[in-house]
Amino acid sequence: MSAATKEVKRITTHVLKNMKVQGEKISMLTAYDYSMARILDEAGIEVLLVGDSASNVMAGHETTLPIKLDQMIYHAQSVIRAVKRSFVVVDLPFGSYQGNKMKALESAIRIMKESGAHAVKLEGGEDIIESIKKILSAGIPVMGHLGLTPQSIYKFGTYTVRAKEEEEASRLIRDANLLDETGCFGIVLEKISAKLGKEVSEQISIPTIGIGAGPGTDGQVLVTHDLLGITKDFKPRFLRRYLDLYGTIKHAAQQYMLDVKRQDFPNEKEQY
Ligand code: KIV
Repeated sequence: MSAATKEVKRITTHVLKNMKVQGEKISMLTAYDYSMARILDEAGIEVLLVGDSASNVMAGHETTLPIKLDQMIYHAQSVIRAVKRSFVVVDLPFGSYQGNKMKALESAIRIMKESGAHAVKLEGGEDIIESIKKILSAGIPVMGHLGLTPQSIYKFGTYTVRAKEEEEASRLIRDANLLDETGCFGIVLEKISAKLGKEVSEQISIPTIGIGAGPGTDGQVLVTHDLLGITKDFKPRFLRRYLDLYGTIKHAAQQYMLDVKRQDFPNEKEQY
């Protein structure tokens, strides 16, 4: 088979589980639109998360709470059109699954049916376990999310590190085990100590993906706009910025504006 016709081996939950067993770290990034998803898929990122962080970075809201199911589906559809290899997980938005397992199932089915995504992610442990079981019973892969769960920001009151107290750490370990036993294929661990991130990852059989949870998790996730430096005011300790696209894009836009004003653009070669 020539390189041009070589079949792309898609990432599945099975591949991710195998990566954990083999000790190969999993890379996950957020994507909300076609153009970015195409680049990240081609780059080889294993998991693309259509995160409800779209509420912040795409729509400019202060929290993830306002984004609606229809809007998540729109973002997911755009991402799916670009993807050839990555596994695409979509966040169930706030209000679409808590406290009502039938509503949770309907929301998850809408995402899978209308976007073609591969899995859904829900925030919480024991408190939402009935919703998770219901979604799993329909054959939909579920990813959990423990630690700092931004949809509960008004309960926490701050975005500081979670589970520093023994009681909350024990609850998080219990929740992680419960999600594993219930049949989730993976868990995001957000903003917890590196020690707890490692402990949880070693205890459970499914992959953990950390964001501010230290190097001991089975993979890492970042919000792409943070990694690329498109956002500039968000500066948590866990974030590594690989570019300063805010500055680069602003400079390019100013350069274009100058060229237009001094009638340098379009030049002779840039017209018909
Ligand atoms: O919505 C999101 O981007 C997330 C990540 C921070 C894990 O849930």
